[in-house]
Amino acid sequence: MLSIDVLTLFPNMLSGFVSESMIGRAQKNGLVQVTAHQLRNWATDKWSITDDRPFGGGAGMLLKPEPLFSAIEELKRPETVAVYLTPDGEPLSTPLVREFAQEKHLLLVSGHYEGIDQRVRDCLIDREVSIGDYVLTNGTLPAAVMIDAVCRYVPGVLGEEKSLTQDSFSDKLLGFPQYTRPVEYRGMRVPDILLSGDHAKIESWRQERRLEKTQQRRPDLLPPISDQ
Ligand code: ADE
Repeated sequence: MLSIDVLTLFPNMLSGFVSESMIGRAQKNGLVQVTAHQLRNWATDKWSITDDRPFGGGAGMLLKPEPLFSAIEELKRPETVAVYLTPDGEPLSTPLVREFAQEKHLLLVSGHYEGIDQRVRDCLIDREVSIGDYVLTNGTLPAAVMIDAVCRYVPGVLGEEKSLTQDSFSDKLLGFPQYTRPVEYRGMRVPDILLSGDHAKIESWRQERRLEKTQQRRPDLLPPISDQ
């Protein structure tokens, strides 16, 4: 069982997401457990303040160290991997997602405003992860994205584990085009080869489409062409 705790100022942003669809079913089946925690509960002053201005000046506010230290120290266990979601983190990728899916306990720390005090990052955070080169208003959606991506790799969560090997990025290629019934819709026909029943031919057709799409859209994923 993979257990995931999320520390955030916006736990309600996660409540619909974790109870719906695949993650909802995985939780009911006891495969994963996701719990959102309100960071304000660890604030010590009577206004439950969690942020402050940065030393040295600059725009925006930072999350203060004290509530984060108390919360993370309370939620962290010996087997925990504490992950801070931040635009300057390591880019989330399939290998990273697979790695996280092997863990027993993830503690996802969602920042807000301009981020969190560096001392929290230095002392308590094991990994820092970005979901892409753009800045969101806080790390709660990135935490949800990471949960979704990681849970797909927890055995039993997807009905058909085979779909993991057909995914875009599963072997550094994008996915192939897919069709379902009807065979003809608004004058557009499903490619004949998919109706042929010839599995070897279908497989090579799919592989060609994957290569073609990757060349067009993400040539950076392909190995460099050697000079010889
Ligand atoms: N917080 C704000 N923007 C983010 C991003 N792109 N990735 C992870 N956490 C974030």
